[in-house]
Amino acid sequence: MPVDAPTPTLDPVRVRTDFPILAQRVHDRPLVNLDNANTTQKPEAVIVATDHYYRADNANIHRSTHLLSERATRAYESARARVQRLINARESREIVFTRGCTEAINLVAHSWGRANLRPGDEVLLTWMEHHSNIVPWQLVAEQTGARLRVVPITDAGEVDLDAYDAALTGPVKIAAIVHVSNALGTVNPVRDMIGRAHARGVPVLVDGAQAVPHLPVDVQQLDCDFYAFSAHKMYGPTGSGALYGKAALLEAMPPYQGGGDMIASVSFEKTTYNVPPYRFEAGTPNIAGVVGFGAAVDYLRSFPVEAIVRHEHDLLEYATARLEATPGVRIIGRARERAGVVSFVMENVHPHDIGTILDREGVAIRTGQHCTQPVMDRFGIPATARASFAIYNTRDDVDALVAGLETVRAMFG
Ligand SMILES: Cc1ncc(COP(=O)(O)O)c(C=O)c1O
Repeated sequence: MPVDAPTPTLDPVRVRTDFPILAQRVHDRPLVNLDNANTTQKPEAVIVATDHYYRADNANIHRSTHLLSERATRAYESARARVQRLINARESREIVFTRGCTEAINLVAHSWGRANLRPGDEVLLTWMEHHSNIVPWQLVAEQTGARLRVVPITDAGEVDLDAYDAALTGPVKIAAIVHVSNALGTVNPVRDMIGRAHARGVPVLVDGAQAVPHLPVDVQQLDCDFYAFSAHKMYGPTGSGALYGKAALLEAMPPYQGGGDMIASVSFEKTTYNVPPYRFEAGTPNIAGVVGFGAAVDYLRSFPVEAIVRHEHDLLEYATARLEATPGVRIIGRARERAGVVSFVMENVHPHDIGTILDREGVAIRTGQHCTQPVMDRFGIPATARASFAIYNTRDDVDALVAGLETVRAMFG
C-alpha cells in the first residue's frame, strides 16, 4: 500500500449477508454470535464450494486416472497453493493438511519430537498455551524422557521475556508458543521470540489458531520453523487445518501415521516413504474439508487484512470500554497488544450463569476454562466469560452483550 493511502475499511453489515446462519433468531431474539474464537460461522462461498465438491467432483485423490479423481485432486492441491499464499510459505510442499491445529501440533510433537528429544532435553512453552500445545508435548516427553519448561506470564497476561531468555539458556530443544492467546487475547511478539530462540539454535513452533483469522501472517518474515492453524476458526469447515513446516525440517522428519498415500513403496521386508507433504497425509484426507478450506482462504483474502485488523481492533476497544463501565465486571488479560478476544469475570456470578442468561437474550459467548486451565490457575479464577469477534460483528453486537450483562446483574443483585 502507498505510504499515505487511507486504511481500508469493511462493512460488517454487508459482510453479515454472506453468512446464512446469522439471519436466524434464537430464543426469539436476533442471533448475536460472539463465540468466534471457538469456531466462526461459514460464508455462502465455503458452503457452496463444499456442496459443489460432493455434487460434482467427489472422488478419491492422487489415485485414479478418471476425470472426477483428476478434478478432486486439482481442487485439493489448489487449496494447498492458496494456503501457501495466505501465509506466504516459500513452497507448497511446506503445507501439510491436517484435521486442524491440534493435529498439526501432535504431528510435530510425535514426528519431530520422537526423532529429536532425548532424556533431559526441554520443550519450552509459555503459561498461556492452549491444552493442544501442552498435552502433545507431555505425551512425547513421557516417551522420550524430555521435560517441559514453562515461561511465566505477567499480571497483564504477557509473556515474561526475561524469563523466556533465561529459559533459553537451558537444554531447550524446541519452543512451542502461541501467537494469539485464545483465553486472554494477548498477541505475543512471536517474531522477536523466534529470533531469540534461533540465536540459541532452538527451532520454534507457533500455534496460530487465533492469529490467522485476525492478523497478517507471513511465515517467511516470522522465520518460524512450524506454524499450526485450523480452517474452522477462519470461516472454513471443521475437520481441516494445516501445518506449515520449513521444507528441510519436514524432509528430515519420519512419518507421523502410516497408511495409504504416505508411502513410496511397501513390502513386508521394508517400506519407503513418500516426500513431504504427502508423507504426513496418511489415508484418505478430508477432501471436502480441504476444498472448503481453500474457499475460506479466498474469502478471507477478499478483504484487505488491514481492514480486518482495523475493524476487529475497533470492536475490541469498544467492548473493553463498555465492559469497564459495567459495574462488577473485571477484564482478565490487559496485554498491550490484543486481538479478537475479551475475557472477563463478574462479581458474585459464575461465568456459566452469565453464558446461560446471555443465551436466552440471543447472545452466544463461551464460558469456562477455554482449554487453558493453567491460565485460570495463574489468575486464581475457575473460569471466564469470553466474547470473541469476527468480521461480521458490529458495535450493536457489543451493545447486546452489555445489555445482557445488565440483565445478569439484575438477576444476581
Ligand atoms: C490457541 C489455540 N490453539 C489450538 C487450538 C485447537 O484448535 P482445534 O481444536 O481447531 O484443533 C485452539 C482452539 O480453540 C486455540 O484457540
